[in-house]
Amino acid sequence: MSSISLQSRLPRTYRIKEIVQETEMVRTYIFDGSLGAKPGQFLMCWMPGVDEKPFSVAFDDGSETKITFFAVGPMSEALAKAKVGDLVGLRGPFGTCYEWDAGDHIVLVAGGYGAAPMFFVASEAVKHGCTLEAIVGARGKEHLLYLKELESLKHVSLHVSTDDGSVGHKGYNTEVLDMLLEAAADPDAKDPPIDKVFACGPEMMLKSVLTVSEKHGVPSQLSLERYMKCGFGICGNCAVDSSGARLCIDGPVVKAEECKKISEFGKYHRDDLGKKHEF
Ligand SMILES: Cc1cc2nc3c(=O)[nH]c(=O)nc-3n(C[C@H](O)[C@H](O)[C@H](O)COP(=O)(O)OP(=O)(O)OC[C@H]3O[C@@H](n4cnc5c(N)ncnc54)[C@H](O)[C@@H]3O)c2cc1C
Ligand code: FES
Repeated sequence: MSSISLQSRLPRTYRIKEIVQETEMVRTYIFDGSLGAKPGQFLMCWMPGVDEKPFSVAFDDGSETKITFFAVGPMSEALAKAKVGDLVGLRGPFGTCYEWDAGDHIVLVAGGYGAAPMFFVASEAVKHGCTLEAIVGARGKEHLLYLKELESLKHVSLHVSTDDGSVGHKGYNTEVLDMLLEAAADPDAKDPPIDKVFACGPEMMLKSVLTVSEKHGVPSQLSLERYMKCGFGICGNCAVDSSGARLCIDGPVVKAEECKKISEFGKYHRDDLGKKHEF
C-alpha cells in the first residue's frame, strides 16, 4: 500500500473526451489525461451519488486513458448515460501488470471486455520487439471487441472464435489456444516457440487457459476479478481463499503458480457483503 501514492488513492476528476459505442451494450470512454497505468492495471471509477467500481485500463499513452465497459447494472448503466464533456472521478492506477521480456512471442487470450486490456498489452509489447498472437472470443460476431485495433498493430496476428460460428473458429478461444500451442511446439514450426500466455476474461475461461497452458508447459498470467472497494489493500474485500491474496494489490494479474494457490479459483467469488456465489 505504501508504494501507492496518496494522489493515486484519492479520486480526481477527468473529462470524457470521446465516446465509442463498440456494441449495443459496450462503450469505450476516452478520458482527457493519464493515470500512468501499465497494461493489466485497473482504475476505480466514481459516479457521485451512485457507486464506485473497478475497470481495467484499456489504454494509457501518457496523455489519455481509456476504459471499455458493459452496461450491466446500476453503476455501469449510470456511467453509460454520461456524455462527452462530462466529468468522472477516477483514482489509480492499481494492481499488478502483465510482465514480458523483450522479443517474447506471446499469446493473448481475450473474452468479453478482456479484449481491451489485451490491446493495451499488445500496443506496449510490440514496442519491446515482441510478436503476439491475439485470440479474441465472443458468443457471436456482434459481440467481438477490439478486432480493428489489434489488426492495426504490426507483429500481431489476430485469431477469432465465436461460440455460434458466425465468424472465425466455431467454439471457445481456449481451443484456438490449444491448437496454437500444439503447432508452436512442432520442431518444424516456422514461428518461434511461445514464451508466455496472457489472458483476461470470464473466470471459467481463465481456468481453461491455465489448464491448456500447463499442458504445453508454457507459463501464463491471468487477470482475476473480485469485488473491490478500496483498491489498494486496506479493506480486505478482495481477499481470496485460501491464499489470502488481496487481488487489488497481489492481482488482478496473477501468475499461474500463484493462481494455483487460490482454492476458490474457478469455483466461487464473494459479493460486497462477503457472500459466496458459485461460477
Ligand atoms: C479488476 C477489475 C477490472 C474490471 N474491469 C472491467 C472492465 O474493463 N469493463 C467492465 O465492463 N467491467 C469491469 N469490471 C467489472 C466492473 O467493476 C463492475 O462489476 C461492472 O461494471 C458492473 O457493475 P454495476 O454496479 O453496474 O453492476 P452490478 O450490480 O455489480 O452487476 C450487475 C450484474 O452483472 C454482472 N456483471 C458484472 N460485470 C459484468 C460484465 N462485464 N458483463 C456481464 N455481466 C457482468 C454481475 O455479476 C451482476 O450479476 C472489472 C472488475 C474488476 C474487479
Ligand atoms: S479492494 Fe480493499 S483490500 Fe482489495
